[in-house]
Amino acid sequence: MSSTHQPALLVTGASGHMGRRVLDLLLEAQAGPVIAVTRTPDKLADFAGRGVSVRHGDFDDPASLPAAFAGADRLLLISTDAVVEPGRRLKQHRAAIQAAEAAGVGHVLYTSITNASPDSPVQLTPQHFGTEEALRDSSMGWTILRNNVYTDTLVGTFSRAIQMGTLFHACGDGKTAYITREDCAHAAAAALADGFTGQRTLDITGPQALSQADLTQIASTLAGKPIDCVALDLEVVIENMVNAGLPRPAAEMFASFNTGIAQGVFSEVTDTFETLTGQTPMRVAEFMAGQRDALLNGPPLG
Ligand SMILES: NC(=O)c1ccc[n+]([C@@H]2O[C@H](COP(=O)([O-])OP(=O)(O)OC[C@H]3O[C@@H](n4cnc5c(N)ncnc54)[C@H](OP(=O)(O)O)[C@@H]3O)[C@@H](O)[C@H]2O)c1
Repeated sequence: MSSTHQPALLVTGASGHMGRRVLDLLLEAQAGPVIAVTRTPDKLADFAGRGVSVRHGDFDDPASLPAAFAGADRLLLISTDAVVEPGRRLKQHRAAIQAAEAAGVGHVLYTSITNASPDSPVQLTPQHFGTEEALRDSSMGWTILRNNVYTDTLVGTFSRAIQMGTLFHACGDGKTAYITREDCAHAAAAALADGFTGQRTLDITGPQALSQADLTQIASTLAGKPIDCVALDLEVVIENMVNAGLPRPAAEMFASFNTGIAQGVFSEVTDTFETLTGQTPMRVAEFMAGQRDALLNGPPLG
């Protein structure tokens, strides 16, 4: 029997895309005992079968968290998807941080956003900043993973641009260092397992910063046809989303990324991902080439 103590690694929001992928990577790396916390343990039966301790936990029900977090040494807090309701997400994250501290967790990692600040034009950013503040105010060690915009969020943009022959935006000439969710999962798993015990803020970005004109060029090359890049007023972008069926608060929230991009909030490229993982982050063109069939042969837009 080995006398080496491997820290118990806990992942919240474990049934989501990011959560499942981090679990996979931890198991592949044999990183130590793994605990998965989710509102729906049934969805993670496959991971229970692979040795993961699957537990019920819901940030909206703080009483569920002491048992969910018991025995964890390091905890990855995956930001929840409650992005539109004002205040709810921050309340959830604060409950999780308080419960982690009470449970004796030594180190918490949090999936934040690039340039988290209270006065960001990107509407959901103050919630991330508030969560970062809760970590900074805690007595635990912490890692803030400031993830740039997921490349994955561009699939709809590319699909529309290819079908309509035009990419519409309100991002000005601003550039974004898009990173894939897959790469963010690699960064999170590496940071969760690396044993770091202090306090650090990591800017996780892709390998290049691209403007909407750059994206249009990539879409055009992929589709083998010319595509125009057309700047719109922010209000028109919001109106288009509302007309496509999105509730106005959600449309305003998503559209606020345009303003952030235009102001350069997401433009910095770092080598943090490579330092952390030893891997090269994927380029947008490579990611979109992997989606080629769906983009070129997908269902027509409604
Ligand atoms: N940087 C970007 O561009 C970008 C883009 C999209 C999303 N994000 C953020 O990254 C996060 C992870 O992305 P994803 O693709 O994995 O999202 P996802 O598949 O929608 O997963 C969101 C997770 O939030 C968890 N959650 C929701 N309500 C919860 C609650 N009351 N208590 C505890 N957990 C709760 C869910 O966990 P269970 O269902 O397992 O309980 C779910 O797995 C998102 O939630 C979002 O905050 C970032």
